[in-house]
Amino acid sequence: MSNLAPRKAVLGMAPYSPPTGNRLDKLRLDFNENTVGCSPKVIERLKQTLDAGLLTVYPDYARTKAALSTYFRVSPDELLLTNGTDEAIQVLVNTYVDDGDEVIALRPSYAMYRFYAEVAGAKIVEVDYQPPTLAFPLQELLAAITPRTRAILIANPNNPTGTAINLAAVEQILKAAPHAAVLIDEAYYEFFGVTALNLIWKYPQLFVSRTFSKVYGMAALRMGCLFSQAANVKYLHKAQSPYSVNALAAIAAEAAVADTAYIENYVSEALAAREMLEVGLEKLGISYVPGSANFILAYFGDRAIEVRDALREKAILVRDRSYEIPGGVRITVGTREQARRVLSELERIW
Ligand SMILES: Cc1ncc(COP(=O)(O)O)c(C=O)c1O
Repeated sequence: MSNLAPRKAVLGMAPYSPPTGNRLDKLRLDFNENTVGCSPKVIERLKQTLDAGLLTVYPDYARTKAALSTYFRVSPDELLLTNGTDEAIQVLVNTYVDDGDEVIALRPSYAMYRFYAEVAGAKIVEVDYQPPTLAFPLQELLAAITPRTRAILIANPNNPTGTAINLAAVEQILKAAPHAAVLIDEAYYEFFGVTALNLIWKYPQLFVSRTFSKVYGMAALRMGCLFSQAANVKYLHKAQSPYSVNALAAIAAEAAVADTAYIENYVSEALAAREMLEVGLEKLGISYVPGSANFILAYFGDRAIEVRDALREKAILVRDRSYEIPGGVRITVGTREQARRVLSELERIW
């Protein structure tokens, strides 16, 4: 007997399997995570709260919603808790995009925009970042908007380019596409400091996402937030499974936003490490894209994969992106000590 054929949209998709295996004992500069871990207060709170009672009941999000809405300065009905940004993208697409609708995404960018748009059967229109600067292609994006555009999915700053746009550019896009859901994915907001969150009251088609996977050091818990006007969030809720965020993730997020000093310290350390890495790359004659997030995209020409493998030999993981940006390797920044370690290996390899 033969297997059932999946939907046409699924049949046509390329499998996506990021290299997540065997990473725990290495210096992990390959996924833009926090390289030193979450606040100890998050671990403390999880230990204090974890018991059979907590695991027995379906999650109650009231307290988390209250804490996060206070922290992000929105009202609780302008916020959707999500299972990572990934679910935020999925719910947004499921709420607004029908089979055959046009979705605009940039290239290269975070793979899950294309992924969920493809699963939905959307027609994906890609707008390219141009090397070597990889600056945001604003004019090209504006030109790609049509009356059939249903969603525009943008990471700001973008991954893997690290490049960003200012709020004037975000507003230009919103004005040009009043009929499309516009997502500004702010996974790296804390390293950039510019947010579109305050624009949600001005533009009824704007959605902003944040994650606890990066600076907060909680990627394994899968926790994110999606913000928009309350009337939109009501629809997002309808398209979301009611218990997709687990109780431990919700509790951890409350503890994480209560320890702002930890986040501020990590961000200033990472920014110092980024500067150190940039200076070090320049000294080595390695060009890179000046970025606004906690990573650097460096150009190693035709030696990109060789460099990645040589670093891996020394238990340092970086991410090859040369399949989409010629010569490109993405290096996460964490602490200055970690940046020193990468640089001294690069000195040897290069
Ligand atoms: C632009 C962007 N958005 C979101 C994420 C991660 O999302 P999640 O919150 O699902 O871990 C990443 C991780 O690489 C990213 O680069």
